[in-house]
Amino acid sequence: LPDGLAKTPPMGFNNWNATGCDINEKMIRDTADIFVTSGLKKAGYEYVNIDDCWAEPERDPRTGRLVPHHERFPSGIEALADYVHGKGLKLGIYTSAGTQTCAKTMPGSLDHEEVDAQTFADWGVDYLKYDNCNNQGRPALERYTRMRDALRKTGRPIVYSLCEWGENKPWEWGKDVGHLWRTTGDINDSWTSMVTLLKQNAPLAPYAGPGQWNDPDMLEVGNGGMTDREYRSHFSLWAAMAAPLLIGADLRKASPATMEILGNRDVIAVDQDPLGVQGRVLRNADGHWVIVKPLAGGDVAVTLFNETEDVATFGATAAELGLPARKAYVVRDLWAHRDFETAGSFSASVPAHGTVMYRIRAGGDWGRRPPLGEFGATLS
Ligand code: GLA
Repeated sequence: LPDGLAKTPPMGFNNWNATGCDINEKMIRDTADIFVTSGLKKAGYEYVNIDDCWAEPERDPRTGRLVPHHERFPSGIEALADYVHGKGLKLGIYTSAGTQTCAKTMPGSLDHEEVDAQTFADWGVDYLKYDNCNNQGRPALERYTRMRDALRKTGRPIVYSLCEWGENKPWEWGKDVGHLWRTTGDINDSWTSMVTLLKQNAPLAPYAGPGQWNDPDMLEVGNGGMTDREYRSHFSLWAAMAAPLLIGADLRKASPATMEILGNRDVIAVDQDPLGVQGRVLRNADGHWVIVKPLAGGDVAVTLFNETEDVATFGATAAELGLPARKAYVVRDLWAHRDFETAGSFSASVPAHGTVMYRIRAGGDWGRRPPLGEFGATLS
């Protein structure tokens, strides 16, 4: 939606991948605390989002409103929003464009769009993930548009995430309805799942831009089903695709390696680049992927992803990347956090399942470029 929200892909947290329905207000508060104390907030993470199962099974019979679950959210959502806002962060919530949500533990918002949107706005909610379960076979465009209009009517700026799983090609209509749309089914914490979603989401690059993002689902980084090297690939690829970066791990139990991956500001700056272009696959030669993402000011991010089981050396030339011809290029390795010069071949030895990510400084006037070391500092 061209309304000034989500000019860069949303960053934050959602509990679903870590806990499923086992969610409560303490986890949300703890996550907000950790965003601040760990530096993740400074790195750009902003939305703390609640997924399915937050409400009672029945609406309030008097007002028709959704009711926060008395055991999981005893203080209510408004108090939680106040808490999260007090940390300088934002709160997200979830419901479905159907009669019930996917877990079937709470009502959905179909035919209750206005009362639910108003309730969320009254509570101070800043982000809505709108799922697709139990939709009664009614047309997606109509169901998702009704909630867009209801949210708009509240007057509160609320980021609107269409969780329609790519079933009705939301990339073709989503930019007029929401700020991001799922392009795939659900992720799970495995290498196979991550690579499958990459392959579905990558070709949709032309549809992405500021306020309109392809969403290959939330991050699994830190949940234990992949190696740290694979999680670095997952994080790199999502950033190369300008995907929303929604942490899916329980940060109270996160390892130092997980925090380092999620907190990599050089990689985050690629995801959050203000030009808002989703990286395109230059080639995928037998699992040796080269993804190119143009950045503001003429810089270029190159992601070298090795999907195979063997170490391999591959890359791209300056001409292939559309860079102006120069004697030398200054490059930053975004995982090693090291700057180097090259005559025009951007390649690397990439371990099995690993990723090397470069940022190439391609600006015309080298003298007026920001000094090296400032890459990734754009998020304050
Ligand atoms: C669907 C969504 C998931 C999650 C669950 C909750 O499967 O795609 O992301 O929200 O519902 O039940």
